[in-house]
Amino acid sequence: MRTQVGIIGSGPSGLLLSQILHHHGIESVIMERQSRDHVLGRIRAGVLEQSTVDMLRAAGVGERMDREGLVHGGFHLAFDGRMEYIDMQKWTGGNSVMVYGQTEVTSDLIEKRLSDGGIIEYEAPAVAIENFLDGKPRVIFEKDGGRQQLDCDFVAGCDGYHGVSRKSIDPGSIKELERVYPFGWLGILADVPPVDRELIYINHERGFALCSMRSHTRSRFYIQCDLTDSVDNWTDEAFWEELRRRLPEAAAQKLVTGPRLEMSIAPLRSFVAEPMRFGNLFLAGDAAHIVPPTGAKGLNLAASDIHYLSRALIAYYSENRTDLLDRYSDTCLLRVWKAVRFSWWFTAMMHKFEDDPLSPRLQRAELDYLTGSEAARTMMAENYVGLPFEPFE
Ligand code: FAD
Ligand code: DHB
Repeated sequence: MRTQVGIIGSGPSGLLLSQILHHHGIESVIMERQSRDHVLGRIRAGVLEQSTVDMLRAAGVGERMDREGLVHGGFHLAFDGRMEYIDMQKWTGGNSVMVYGQTEVTSDLIEKRLSDGGIIEYEAPAVAIENFLDGKPRVIFEKDGGRQQLDCDFVAGCDGYHGVSRKSIDPGSIKELERVYPFGWLGILADVPPVDRELIYINHERGFALCSMRSHTRSRFYIQCDLTDSVDNWTDEAFWEELRRRLPEAAAQKLVTGPRLEMSIAPLRSFVAEPMRFGNLFLAGDAAHIVPPTGAKGLNLAASDIHYLSRALIAYYSENRTDLLDRYSDTCLLRVWKAVRFSWWFTAMMHKFEDDPLSPRLQRAELDYLTGSEAARTMMAENYVGLPFEPFE
C-alpha cells in the first residue's frame, strides 16, 4: 500500500487531519488499532474551544454540532460554601465554548471521512514506523493475522499516549517531561438532566467534583478518587451519594440520579514530549502531550496541532514549501506549554492534596483572589475559551 500521508490513530486528531488534507486534494490512510465500535464507545472530552468548533465547521462536520451542541458563556466555581460565576463572554469580549461530546465529534468525522471515500483500517495496529529519518517512511501494521506495509511521504503519529509513534523514536532524540498526580477522576454518564445550565467546578474538603453535561437530558459528572480505586468499588448509589456530599446546596437539591450509561476512571498527568517532529514523522495530540482534564484542553490541543500540521503539509504539496514543516514543533509547543500551565494551575487550585497541609488555605486564598479580581478572572476566562493560534503562514 502507498499513500501521501500515513496517519496512525483514528481519534479526533487523526480523523480531523485526514479530512482537512482530503479537502486540499492530499491522500491519506488511517490505521486504527481498535474496532470502530470500540472507538465510538469511549466517553471522553466534552468542551470545545471556539477555534476547535471553527475547524470542525471548516472540515464539513459542523452541522450536527451546531444543531445539538450547547453554547456556554461561562462556568461556576464552587468553594467554601460559595458559588461564583466566571462570565467568559464578559471577560473575553464575547467568546464562548461549545459542549459537544468527543464521542459525537469522532462519530461525525468517521461518517464524513467514509462518505468522502476515505480509508480507515480498523483493527489494524501499527507495530513499527521505519525510515522516517531517511525521507521514505513506512508503517508496518497488522491486519487479519498478517503483517503489511504502508509506504508514504509523511507519517502523522496521532495514536495517543500509549501509541507506537513516540516509541519508535530513538530515546536519545526525544525529551519526555512528566508529572503524575496522586489521584484520578471517577466519571459517570447518565440520562438525567444537568444540575445547572452551566458547568460547575467544585473544590471540596472531600475532593474535587465536576458537573458537566452532554445535552439537556444527559449529564456527565466526575469526582476525584484515589489512584488505586476501581470502578468495581462503586455502585451507582455510592457515586451519587458521594457526589451529593461535594455539591453546593443549590445543586445538591437539583441533582437527579439514574442508572449509569458508563462509568470509568481517568488518571491525571501532565506530559510533554519534545520535539514533536523527527524527520518525516510528526507527533500530534495525546501522542505528544497530555494535560490533566481540569482545564478541558486535551482535545482542543489535539485540534490546534492539526491546524499547524495540516497547513504545513498543504504548503508542502501545493507550493513545495518546507519551512512550515520545519517550524511545526516549535510553534505547537508554544501553545502546548501554555495549556499545560493552565491545566496544572487549575488542577492544583481545585483538588485535594493529602500530603500538603498548606494546600486548602492556599486554594481558598487563590479562589477568593481569582473571583474578586478583574485581572485574574480575565486570565482564567481567556485561557478557558482558548488562547489564539500563533501566526503560521
Ligand atoms: P486519542 O483520542 O487517544 O486517539 C488515539 C487513537 O490511536 C486511538 O483511537 C487509539 O486506539 C489509536 N492507537 C493507539 N495505538 C495505536 C497503534 N499502535 N496503531 C493504530 N492505532 C493506535 N479534552 C478536552 O479538550 N476537553 C475536555 O473536556 C476533556 N475531557 C476529558 C475527560 C476525560 C475523562 C479524559 C480521559 C480526557 C479528556 N480530554 C478532554 C482529553 C481528550 O479526550 C484527549 O486529549 C483526546 O482524545 C486526544 O485526541 P487524540 O486523537 O490525540 O488521541
Ligand atoms: C468535561 C470534561 C472536562 O475535563 C472538563 O474540564 C469539562 C467537561 C466533560 O466530560 O464534560
